[in-house]
Amino acid sequence: MITATDLELRAGSRILLSDASLRVQAGDRIGLVGRNGAGKTTTLRVLAGEGEPYGGDLRRTGELGYLPQDPREGDLSVTAKDRVLSARGLDELLREMEKAQTAMAEHADDSVRDNAVRKYGRLEERFSALGGYAAESEAARICSNLGLADRVLAQPLRTLSGGQRRRVELARILFAASEAGAGGGSGTILLLDEPTNHLDADSITWLRGFLKGHSGGLVVISHDVELLGDVVNKVWFLDAMRGEVDIYNMGWKRYLDARAADEKRRRRERANAEKKAGVLMEQANKMRAKATKAVAAQNMIKRAEKLVSGLDDVRQSDKVAKIRFPEPAPCGKTPLLAEGLSKSYGSLEIFSGVDLAIDKGSRVVILGLNGAGKTTLLRLLGAMETPDSGEVIAGHGLRLGYYAQEHETLDHSASVWANIRHAAPDTGEQQLRSLLGTFLFTGEQLDQPAGTLSGGEKTRLALAGLVSSAANVLLLDEPTNNLDPASREQVLDALRRYSGAVVLVTHDPGAVEALEPERVILLPDGSEDHWSAEYLELVQLA
Ligand SMILES: Nc1ncnc2c1ncn2[C@@H]1O[C@H](COP(=O)(O)OP(=O)(O)OP(=O)(O)O)[C@@H](O)[C@H]1O
Ligand SMILES: [Mg+2]
Repeated sequence: MITATDLELRAGSRILLSDASLRVQAGDRIGLVGRNGAGKTTTLRVLAGEGEPYGGDLRRTGELGYLPQDPREGDLSVTAKDRVLSARGLDELLREMEKAQTAMAEHADDSVRDNAVRKYGRLEERFSALGGYAAESEAARICSNLGLADRVLAQPLRTLSGGQRRRVELARILFAASEAGAGGGSGTILLLDEPTNHLDADSITWLRGFLKGHSGGLVVISHDVELLGDVVNKVWFLDAMRGEVDIYNMGWKRYLDARAADEKRRRRERANAEKKAGVLMEQANKMRAKATKAVAAQNMIKRAEKLVSGLDDVRQSDKVAKIRFPEPAPCGKTPLLAEGLSKSYGSLEIFSGVDLAIDKGSRVVILGLNGAGKTTLLRLLGAMETPDSGEVIAGHGLRLGYYAQEHETLDHSASVWANIRHAAPDTGEQQLRSLLGTFLFTGEQLDQPAGTLSGGEKTRLALAGLVSSAANVLLLDEPTNNLDPASREQVLDALRRYSGAVVLVTHDPGAVEALEPERVILLPDGSEDHWSAEYLELVQLA
């Protein structure tokens, strides 16, 4: 169980949350929602014990499984499989068993061999007592349901993409918490920050089922409304501007209705307060003329200001970033061309012989299953990586804009301001400020290191960098990940209006519909086809 009382959370000088009392217990399946930057990740981190609250009291009992929004750092030399098994301490045992096995095979000396045999026996006994064999296959089952292939499991974490690493972490946590666990791990409280971000449709469906059946307590942050609708029986709504969390003890559908009613009531209260303030101001202005009433008039003005001052905040919370893509610079007929691209990692061939011509203003979607090389192809086109063979040819006037799924284009240690400065060295300061303003970055936040931005804010900053670039070919890798619904709509709208060429990788069918692509490239074979509606189903599988 987790109990928090009088919890206060801050980010810099901003109060994210105050006086909150939160409780997570067995049977709870809580959806934690709110706008980008509201403080969801911060709240979950603190509940998980990985961050200190600014104030308040926090108590935790029992096991926890925490999936952070960003891939974890830490020891990256272990294999993915060991990382998953380590959740129940099985990785060590397996390694010891392997060592003993080698010793048994290698040593001719009887006494050494006998020792190894005895050691192996002891280890093996412990392994089965811990439910080792069943556990190993349980872990394998979870991994395959999350789209982690055997070959990926054998790789060290260092060689995996951020998305793959997050899936490994998720597998590890679910493995620790699964019913079949020897320790009865189902009592584990799961704290999951955007667990579906890097999952394909099949994995999401499976995860939904898993979470629905989990009895030990769950807090999940997700922008996936289908998952929320299916899984949660309580909702915490974090209201950034009021710095409060509203607790709804009901499922998703009823929550949406209740929230709508609450918002309506608040709007009514707002309108009433504004009306009252207006009357007060009018009265005060009349009285001001008379010297004897000047003090009373001043007081009235103060009261009126107080009535409205609480309201500005509320209005701001409705604010949405005005996301626009750039006015593309002029270019030739085919600004980007690729011939015979091949790429392998070690002995593993990702794809080979991919040809591609991106004409001015054309719209292309890249489809392929997990691991088919979609991100790799974009990175080659964006010259972030070099192909093993073939070449990428820049056409006349090419200006590339690259949006990276893991935000690698951002310098995490530099400030928001320094990042945008770097993305658009030729743009005037005033213009950059107003650009950042439309993406909702103002005031102190300009000095904030980009690494401390929330997931959605990072996405916004990276997109702002594109806008200032006058790019005429945009390479977009999952540009709607992490965005709250209102901001996602803005990105979709920007996609619709952009007149330059776009090469898009996404799991989000809405993004494809907004793009209205003409062509699709299918990986790994690199074949090309005219876009047709049937491909939309493939988008979710991809
Ligand atoms: N060191 C810091 N200094 C100033 N502000 C910070 C710092 N660290 C985090 N913040 C801010 O705290 C706020 C809350 O961040 P958090 O990651 O909890 O948001 P979130 O609700 O999870 O958002 P998202 O939906 O985008 O993931 C953000 O506005 C973030 O920029
Ligand atoms: Mg977050």
